[in-house]
Amino acid sequence: MARLTKGVTVVDHPLVQHKLTLMRMKDTSTKSFRQLLKEIAALVCYEVTRDLPLEDVEIETPLQRMTAKSLAGKKLVFAPVLRSGLGMLEGMLELVPAARVAHIGLYRDPATLHCVEYYFKAPADIAERTVIVIDPMLATGNTAIAAVDRLLEAGARDIRMACLLASPEGLSKFRGHHADVKVWTAAIDERLNDHGYILPGLGDAGDRMYGTR
Ligand code: URA
Repeated sequence: MARLTKGVTVVDHPLVQHKLTLMRMKDTSTKSFRQLLKEIAALVCYEVTRDLPLEDVEIETPLQRMTAKSLAGKKLVFAPVLRSGLGMLEGMLELVPAARVAHIGLYRDPATLHCVEYYFKAPADIAERTVIVIDPMLATGNTAIAAVDRLLEAGARDIRMACLLASPEGLSKFRGHHADVKVWTAAIDERLNDHGYILPGLGDAGDRMYGTR
């Protein structure tokens, strides 16, 4: 089940919403947080890939020949933004194990909230593949914009964005820059605080998944 507004799909499936509530709770352990993120990521990925094209293939079951459906075109590329995107990558790869991976190393300068790139490695034929950017927190929108800019520079043409939580400010900024990149998220929260954190949110996703605070 999914709700759609202006290129943004909120994945409001009850399982996703229940797991997200557990992730938001401040006493949820690192282990549970990581596990829940992985589970939600797979469910979000299910919606992001809902319209992938299929083609007919001739196969043989143990009983007879048949025309069956198979994914058409080149394999997907998952593009996690380091480091917190890695927490969603695992769950998405469980659903699409043959996907390629483009790693995007960006960090947010705490003073300016602007993005600084420190690593980028993507498949050479990225132009021929559907790319799904993965970043759990679409907060200011700056990281997501920079990630898509970098993928476009590398030649990507078909890009989608998968996250866990988004702020209204971040979503409108992102869609303002990249109107043709559709977004899937488990929830749109109330607002950003002065430090660029999503409220009510769930805190720092990277710290919570890796236990670094
Ligand atoms: N990054 C996070 O991890 N949390 C936020 O609320 C915003 C950005």
